[in-house]
Amino acid sequence: MKKRILFVCLGNICRSPSAEAVFKGLVDAKNETSLYEIDSAGTYGYHEGESADRRMQSHAVKRGYNLTSISRPFNPGVDWDSFDYIVGMDDSNMQNLKNMARNPDDLKKLHKMTDFSKSYDYQEVPDPYYGGEKGFELVLDLLEDASDGLYDFINNK
Ligand code: 4NP
Repeated sequence: MKKRILFVCLGNICRSPSAEAVFKGLVDAKNETSLYEIDSAGTYGYHEGESADRRMQSHAVKRGYNLTSISRPFNPGVDWDSFDYIVGMDDSNMQNLKNMARNPDDLKKLHKMTDFSKSYDYQEVPDPYYGGEKGFELVLDLLEDASDGLYDFINNK
């Protein structure tokens, strides 16, 4: 059975589309693409239907990640059942997701991305939307590091 991962941020135009692309890049490099189903969503539907933020895209592409996903809101009636790991980017995402959980089994699927960090001591992947260029680079640095840790966690390494 495929391992199904959903990355979640606020708008689904910066952090979670990047997490999706970075984690896909990691499993592609291991020739394990077919073992995973990877998607992303936002807790807030304002950007629904939009491509990833242009600034986020331009930073990501420099590292070889194409952000192809289209923003969509988290759908509690479907997504809790369709994924094995629901991974939030910051504490606010985590609270919003907790509020949308229907039962204790849903909550067991919930994780925060930075809990898988190996080299960074950040408690959240900070929202880069209103900040400068460095914020987008930090998002990618944190996601590359935590993706490694998430892979190990999923595969009991
Ligand atoms: P994201 O970033 O949650 O990483 O996609 C944001 C995108 C949009 C907004 C906030 C954060 N916004 O307020 O519109």
